[in-house]
Amino acid sequence: MDYVYIALLVVLVLLMFVTVFVTFVTGTILTSAPWVPTSKVISRKMCEFGGLKKGDRVLDLGCGDASILIVAAQEFGATCVGVELNPMVALMARTRVRLAGVQDNVKIVRENMFTVDLPDVDVVMMYLLPKATHKIEKRLQDRYKHLTVISHGFELASEEVGKEMVKGSTVRKYKW
Ligand SMILES: C[S@@+](CC[C@H](N)C(=O)[O-])C[C@H]1O[C@@H](n2cnc3c(N)ncnc32)[C@H](O)[C@@H]1O
Repeated sequence: MDYVYIALLVVLVLLMFVTVFVTFVTGTILTSAPWVPTSKVISRKMCEFGGLKKGDRVLDLGCGDASILIVAAQEFGATCVGVELNPMVALMARTRVRLAGVQDNVKIVRENMFTVDLPDVDVVMMYLLPKATHKIEKRLQDRYKHLTVISHGFELASEEVGKEMVKGSTVRKYKW
């Protein structure tokens, strides 16, 4: 009987690895950036750097598993929207949001960030590859008169108003 449980456990673990691998590969092929989550420490720094306060509206373009948004809602009281193209990753984000109990404050939209209707927000978070970063920056400039953008990793073309190193990653701030 014990062998049956062990076999089931092994199959389950294998399935988890296959799911993560397939999600990463399809994400890399089909989208403009693969799914790589931002850690809690960096997410927190991005929220602090963005000056988030209760009631602020936050948008994560390519929200992955909603790591940043969960911190923004739980610890800073923000109201959040995450846009995610990869259906498996979007499902994971919705599940994590529910498990974190912030479903009333975090909405996940399964859409392409280059075509989705961008909601009214105060702060945009992103962790994208350079090409996608520059492409979306143009959209953001056309759409928002006043905005704070916090980018994990890559630079925007706009003038940076500050940057910080956190655990080997650069967090950059832009404001217009
Ligand atoms: C590096 S991950 C960052 C995830 C999350 N923002 C974080 O920092 O934890 C980039 C995410 O963007 C998503 N993505 C890439 N291109 C996209 C697009 N055109 N529209 C929406 N999401 C996209 C990917 O599926 C991936 O989950």
